[in-house]
Amino acid sequence: MTAPWSPDSWRNLPISQQPAYPDAAHLARVEHTLAAMPPLVFAGEARELRRQFAEVTQGRAFLLQGGDCAESFAEFSAAKIRDTFKVLLQMAIVMTFAAGCPVVKVGRMAGQFAKPRSSGEETQQGVTLPAYRGDIVNAIGFDEKNRTPDPERLLQAYHQATASLNLLRAFAQGGFADLHQVHRWNLDFIAGSALADKYHRLADRIDETLAFMRAVGLENAPQVRETSFFTAHEALLLNFEEAFVRRDSLTHDYYDCSAHMLWIGDRTRQLDGAHVEFLRGVHNPIGVKVGPSMAPDDLLRLIDTLNPSNDPGRLNLIARMGAGKVEAHLPALIRAVQREGRQVLWSSDPMHGNTIKASSGYKTRDFAQILSEVKAFFQVHRAEGSYPGGIHIEMTGQNVTECIGGARPITEDALSDRYHTHCDPRMNADQSLELAFMIADTLKQAQPAA
Ligand code: PEP
Ligand code: CO
Repeated sequence: MTAPWSPDSWRNLPISQQPAYPDAAHLARVEHTLAAMPPLVFAGEARELRRQFAEVTQGRAFLLQGGDCAESFAEFSAAKIRDTFKVLLQMAIVMTFAAGCPVVKVGRMAGQFAKPRSSGEETQQGVTLPAYRGDIVNAIGFDEKNRTPDPERLLQAYHQATASLNLLRAFAQGGFADLHQVHRWNLDFIAGSALADKYHRLADRIDETLAFMRAVGLENAPQVRETSFFTAHEALLLNFEEAFVRRDSLTHDYYDCSAHMLWIGDRTRQLDGAHVEFLRGVHNPIGVKVGPSMAPDDLLRLIDTLNPSNDPGRLNLIARMGAGKVEAHLPALIRAVQREGRQVLWSSDPMHGNTIKASSGYKTRDFAQILSEVKAFFQVHRAEGSYPGGIHIEMTGQNVTECIGGARPITEDALSDRYHTHCDPRMNADQSLELAFMIADTLKQAQPAA
């Protein structure tokens, strides 16, 4: 028998990675205010994403998830949202056109504010303060005032997410994503590179295809003029998430209407913990990060708790092993899932198992390791007869220097040039596009010959 669930049943269970708010009454007032606000998304959209996830799980589409590690209040601008959206569109069109595979697009955007940390505290020059947990909790500056968790930040996160989502919806449906614009999605700073040439050649072919469609009278299909775009974030700060639980008026099911999709991080996926409890009860499509410490039996128990009806659109397992560890850990997990007939969407997060410290002290990731993990993910799935359904990446449309390597290589010495992330190092547009071409080639090779 499954225990009853309610939006606040997580509060009775052990919970990790939460801030210590000094004023509980203040927090409760903010939760109350948020619960009365309009939701960010509505249940019908989350159901549509579940339908699209099911297509991916069954091998008929590919899932692209990407965006910041942590969105920040300071770096909030239309240009920044637009540029990240542009790169995601470019990546998606490369995969769709080069590999003939529909791509489901999900941004780590409009709500990705809370961060798990390896330590709850940080010490600098003998002073110990609470760790920075993302802008929804506290501020990054190292002093007592900045680091004290402030409930007002939940409201600011909500307003920023609302404005971001509004712009994303406008871009997706208001003409920006029109396939006639593919040439213009390219960002200035990648112009002139070999990669940009490759992209423009592909865009030329799309133009030809559109001319053909116009000639045969198919030009006005909505799929040409607009796209669908979904949002996702880690459901880490459950006080925030609970405030957005709404009951769908059509089905009476509960949905977490703070985003279309929510995921559970690798540090908070305990079977008897609060995060699993919370997410088992909402009907959104959900993700779970699967790191090298996951045992096959634990994975099966988690799947049973989160997807008891074995719905192919419900659960996205996001493998984040680290380059060189995929072969050792992933096959047993895939086999357990197959043996038990569980329907899951497998995707690869090639970022979080590959974080290193450069000699200069910067936290970075080597693009070669990122590529290597994605390749291994594809190879292992192919060997096991399973479908590698997607990727989950940290990237930005800004011209940052946070991950080393790539076709126009960023060296360790160059990291300090434009290192802007509030948390983990992200790929820039060049690196993201290079990854997309590699995936497109792999998807194409995997297709049965026509
Ligand atoms: C993340 O996606 O930003 C993250 C913290 O990942 P993980 O839970 O896999 O470490
Ligand atoms: Co991260």
